[in-house]
Parts: sequence; C-alpha cells; structure tokens
Amino acid sequence: KKAEAWSARFSEPVSDLVKRYTASVFFDKRLAMFDIQGSLAHAEMLAAQGIISEADRAEIERGMAQIKSEIEAGSFEWLLDLEDVHLNIEKRLTELVGDAGKRLHTGRSRNDQVATDIRLYVRAAIDDVIALLNTLRGALTDLAERHHDTILPGFTHLQVAQPITFGHHMLAYVEMFGRDCERMRDARRRVNRLPLGAAALAGTTFPIDRLRVANKLGFEDVCHNSLDAVSDRDFAIEFTAAASLIMMHISRMSEELVMWISPRIGFIDIADRFCTGSSIMPQKKNPDVPELARGKTGRVYGHLTALLTLMKGQPLAYNKDNQEDKEPLFDTVDTVLDTLRIFTDMATGITVNAGNMRAAALQGYATATDLADYLVKKGLPFRDAHEAVAHAVRACDSARCDLSEMSLETLRTFSPLIGEDVFAVLTLEGSVAARDHVGGTAPNQVRKAIERVRGQLKD
Ligand code: ARG
Repeated sequence: KKAEAWSARFSEPVSDLVKRYTASVFFDKRLAMFDIQGSLAHAEMLAAQGIISEADRAEIERGMAQIKSEIEAGSFEWLLDLEDVHLNIEKRLTELVGDAGKRLHTGRSRNDQVATDIRLYVRAAIDDVIALLNTLRGALTDLAERHHDTILPGFTHLQVAQPITFGHHMLAYVEMFGRDCERMRDARRRVNRLPLGAAALAGTTFPIDRLRVANKLGFEDVCHNSLDAVSDRDFAIEFTAAASLIMMHISRMSEELVMWISPRIGFIDIADRFCTGSSIMPQKKNPDVPELARGKTGRVYGHLTALLTLMKGQPLAYNKDNQEDKEPLFDTVDTVLDTLRIFTDMATGITVNAGNMRAAALQGYATATDLADYLVKKGLPFRDAHEAVAHAVRACDSARCDLSEMSLETLRTFSPLIGEDVFAVLTLEGSVAARDHVGGTAPNQVRKAIERVRGQLKD
C-alpha cells in the first residue's frame, strides 16, 4: 500500500529516519479543526463554481463531519506515514467517501492550505489573547481601586524617589497591557487575509472564487499576490513580536512581585496557591509563578528569534523550512495564554501590606522634591531650591532623621522662605495628593483613571 500522496513519482520509499525528520503531524494536528473548516469552505466554492458536483460536496461534508467527531473522540488515527495534518485528514476523507474525497484538493495545494490554517489559528489565538488581556486589566484595576490611596515609595535606579500610590502603580501595568491589546488588534487586520487560491505558488487554472471562500471563513480580504500568500509568515512573526512585548511587561511585573514578596521588603503577599516551599528550608515560601513567568519570557523571545531567522534566507515562494514555523508559534500561544490566565488569578490573590509600604516611603527623603517645589512656589529659582534641599537632606543624613522630623527653626537655616506650612508639604499624603493632574499619582487621579479604564473595558 502506497501511503505517500506523491509516491508514483519515486522508485523507492523514503527511509524511516527521513519520514520522522520530515513529518509534522505530531505537532500540526493541532490545526485539524481549522484544516477542516478551510476544506469545507473550499469544497463549497468548488461546487458553487461547478468545478465539483453538489453530490461530491455533500459527500465531503458528510466525511468531514465524521472526521471531526473522530478527532473529538480521540479515535482518529494519526499516521506518521502521512506526514502532516492535511494528508492525514484527506486520506481519511477518501477512505470514508471515495472519489469525492480525492476531488477536494482540486485547485488547491498544501502550500495555500497550510497558510490558511495557520492564519485561522493565529486569528483565534489573537482573540483569546485580547480577551485574557482585558480580564487581567480588569483584575489589576480592581486591585488599584482597593489601593487608590495606599502609599509606597516610587523608585528610580531602585532607590526611593517619590511617594506614589499603589493604585497608580498597578494602573501603569493596565496601560501597558492596554497597548498590548491594541497591538494584537492591529496585527489581526493583517492576519485576516485569505491565502487559499494561491495554490502551490502561481494560482490555479480552475475558475475559483476566492472572495467567496474569504467571506465564508470570515477573512476581510484575499491575499493579493499568490507568491506572497504561500510564502510569507510575517503575520506569525508579528503575533510573536506582540506576544514578546506582553511577556516583557509580564516579566517586569514578575520582577516587582518577587521583590515585593521578599521578607526583606514585605510590600505584598501572594496567595499560597501561587507559591511553593523548599524541600530543605522549612521557612520558605517561594514566588514560583512570577519567577517562572519571568523565565518563560525568554522562551517567547527565543521563538521570535527562531521565526525571524527561519524566514530570512528563504527565496520565494514556499520552502519546506516553513514547516518549522509551527512549534515556536504554538508554544508562544500556549505560554502567553497560560501566563495571562495565571496572572489574572494571581492578581486577585495579592494582599498589600500598607504598613511596610508606608514605612519604606518614610525612608530615603521621598518628599525632598516636594520641599524644592515648595521653595519655588515661594519665589526661589528651581536650581537654588534644589541646592537648599540637598543641604537639608545632608543634615538629615547626619542627624539620622527625616525632613519632616526637623524643627522649623533648623529647616529655616536652609532657606528663610520656609514657613509653618512646610509640614503639610512634607507628608506622604500631601505629596501624592499634590500631583493632581492627568497621569499623576494623586488618589483623586487614580479614581479618574480607573473610570477611564472601566469605560474602555466595557466596549
Ligand atoms: N506540512 C507542511 C507545512 O507545514 C505543509 C505544506 C507542505 N507543502 C509542500 N510543498 N511540501 O509547511
């Protein structure tokens, strides 16, 4: 029995090693449902154009329905000998419906078929990613609302910079994940084009109706050049690039969670279900989930590099190299979806230790800028104010006290412009509340920003 679809051309069968080396069925069978969807749309068009009979189309539909249920039931037998998902399904179709099955591939090649399958797959993945990004944004926004006025030190260079609100900090990630959504939506427009009809590379001699197939499959348009249609995978790279940016944001957040949960810092705790213990040190509660997310970010970056490298040397049009697009792509989808799911769940399991945050904000002269701004408002040029406060900070350093703990008398030695009203400015609450403009950290602004995000999440 000749298993290979092209074996009439060859005088000897391929070796087992070559079979195993060239086969993709064990990973591309994940495309099965999209492959069937594409084939049904193709068959419907072939019949409408009179290229195959209505009876053949009906048989193809019957056979595909059976194959679908076999795959769903797990009883479909995937054969390495049949190389990939496309040939496995086509072969089974022919077993089930005879000649009608053999007519399905009229005017089509696996080259435009696989490009269509992957686009359908990536499109569905994008929709899942966007939905999950938005749930994560919702969860972080809820957390921001609970802590719209909880104060912690904001850092630059990992040194205490200025007090900020925890709600504001969470909303920074909500903004990042919002841009990630936009990028996915934008990439989707370019994914959503139909390659089918390009056939192997040059188009087909049959009177096909590509727009009909495009409509049936929900594509916005067809790919307008057959060589381009079968050979480029830029849409998969674009998706992986957007996924890499999501992971980059996730990874930064992970790094912060890991630091914040460290007993040395103790800003937050995350629910036990996201942590593991140590097999030797009984006291440990390790933040495995954010650490792994940080680690898996490298894996997705790797897939991006793999795909870019895969494409860079390929002459037009299709080359078998392209089969290597799938594993990096699939693993990117799995990694990003699981990471977003787990982060959403974790966000709801974060508890904040406001006392530790506040204590940290009280160290490191977080309100030094406020004192400088205060002097400017009293008429001092900013550079002079900066210098006066620098002297005050040095004095605090040797006296081992905070700016707010100095007496008015001492403070006035740094500038006679300082009056009794300075103490309101030096408090953490005064400092954050004063940054009351669009994009600022004031609790008032955090509440407004939350409303804005909730509006976006509604539509
Ligand atoms: N399994 C192949 C892939 O993923 C399908 C296309 C094969 N086409 C070919 N001419 N060998 O790219």
